[in-house]
Parts: sequence; structure tokens; C-alpha cells
Amino acid sequence: MIKALNISHFYGKEQVLYALDLEIKKGEFVFLSGDSGSGKSTLLSCLSTLLSPSEGELFLEGQRVDDIVDIDTFRQNKIGFVFQFHYLINYLSVFENISLAALQDKKPNINALLKELGILDLASRYPNEISGGQRQRVAVARALINEPIVIFADEPTGSLDSRNSTLVYELLSKAREKGTTVVLASHDLHVQEYATQMIKMRDGKIQ
Ligand SMILES: Nc1ncnc2c1ncn2[C@@H]1O[C@H](COP(=O)(O)OP(=O)(O)O)[C@@H](O)[C@H]1O
Ligand SMILES: [Mg+2]
Repeated sequence: MIKALNISHFYGKEQVLYALDLEIKKGEFVFLSGDSGSGKSTLLSCLSTLLSPSEGELFLEGQRVDDIVDIDTFRQNKIGFVFQFHYLINYLSVFENISLAALQDKKPNINALLKELGILDLASRYPNEISGGQRQRVAVARALINEPIVIFADEPTGSLDSRNSTLVYELLSKAREKGTTVVLASHDLHVQEYATQMIKMRDGKIQ
């Protein structure tokens, strides 16, 4: 599903990833752990095509990413993102936020997805009318609406308490059970309970 060969990354002259090789199979829930500054976000950005690594090759579903002609369309069709901050638009309702992200043929599925995730009652509310935990569950729904092959989540529970964190992990676990690969970077060791694969980073290398 995801294969990285000899990935290195530099910000200017500073090297932050060192010749990483890794392979993630379809349907895994990968816990990317490591101290702050160890390179988790940079690696996640490289794997998710948001950042082009300085060196090395990345393959997604067997396709060499550098050979993909329209990477924006590929990303919109195949990849879901959840970040520490939800990036919902405050003047759009929950439903409208998801609709904005949804491809045309996925728009009819929004209510069914909200129902499945247990947040249908939030559909007409605005982000500032719901709790932080609910906002992050909406962000997960938005990441799932286009039925991506993989979801990348960078510290998705960084600003949540443990109860709300658990709810987010459970949603991602459910997505995984349906075949979506999940790659989650976090400090929270509770992720271990949900993960099927662990990748531990230290100083830009995989331990
Ligand atoms: N945009 C950037 N420009 C320059 N340096 C960066 C940038 N983003 C991250 N870094 C540096 O790269 C290293 C790895 O950071 P990051 O990938 O964010 O690690 P983590 O997510 O594990 O905290 C850190 O030393 C950080 O300061
Ligand atoms: Mg980070």
C-alpha cells in the first residue's frame, strides 16, 4: 500500500529524516510514535504527498508518487487527513463542512456517514456550537467522506481529553476494520491499544 525507499528530508541545510525505508500494508493501523522533534510530522507529510522528500522514492498503491500527473486529484480521491486542529470552517455547518470536502458523487453519503459515526445530531450545528471532541469527530468524518484508501492523522487528539481521544481512536479503528489504512502520529501511548503496527522515530530515524 505504502512503500518508502531511502527517504531523506532536509529543511534548508538541516537534515531531519535519514534514509528511511518502510512498508505499510493495506488495512494496518500504524502508530507513529517518538519524541517531539523526532520527525513524525515531516515523515507523515512525505508519506501523504503534502511534502516532497528531498531524497528517496515513495509508492502508493504501487504507483510511484513522482509519476502521478495530477497529484491534487489523486490526493483528494485517495487520502484523508486529520490534524491536531480541526480546520473546520466556522461559518459553515457540520454538514456543509463535510459537503465542501466531498467529491460530487460522495455528497449523497454524508448523512449516512454522520449516522454511522454517531454524530448525525450535529449536522446542522456550527463548529463553535459543539465541543472540541465533537469537532474532532467531525474532522474524522470529513476525512472519511471520500472513502480514502488511507487516512493520515497527525496528533489528532493533541488537544483532547482521554475520553474524547478514545472516541476518535474508535472511529479510526472502525474505518480500519472496513479496509482503510490508518497512519497516526501521536505522543499518546494509548494508541497502542488500537494499532497493528508500530513505527518509533528517534532523531529522524526509525528505531
Ligand atoms: N517547516 C520547517 N522548517 C524548518 N524546520 C522544521 C520544519 N518543520 C519541522 N522542522 C524541524 O524538523 C525536525 C522534525 O520536526 P517534526 O517533523 O515536526 O517532528 P515531530 O512531529 O516528531 O515533532 C525538528 O527539528 C523541527 O524543528
Ligand atoms: Mg509533529
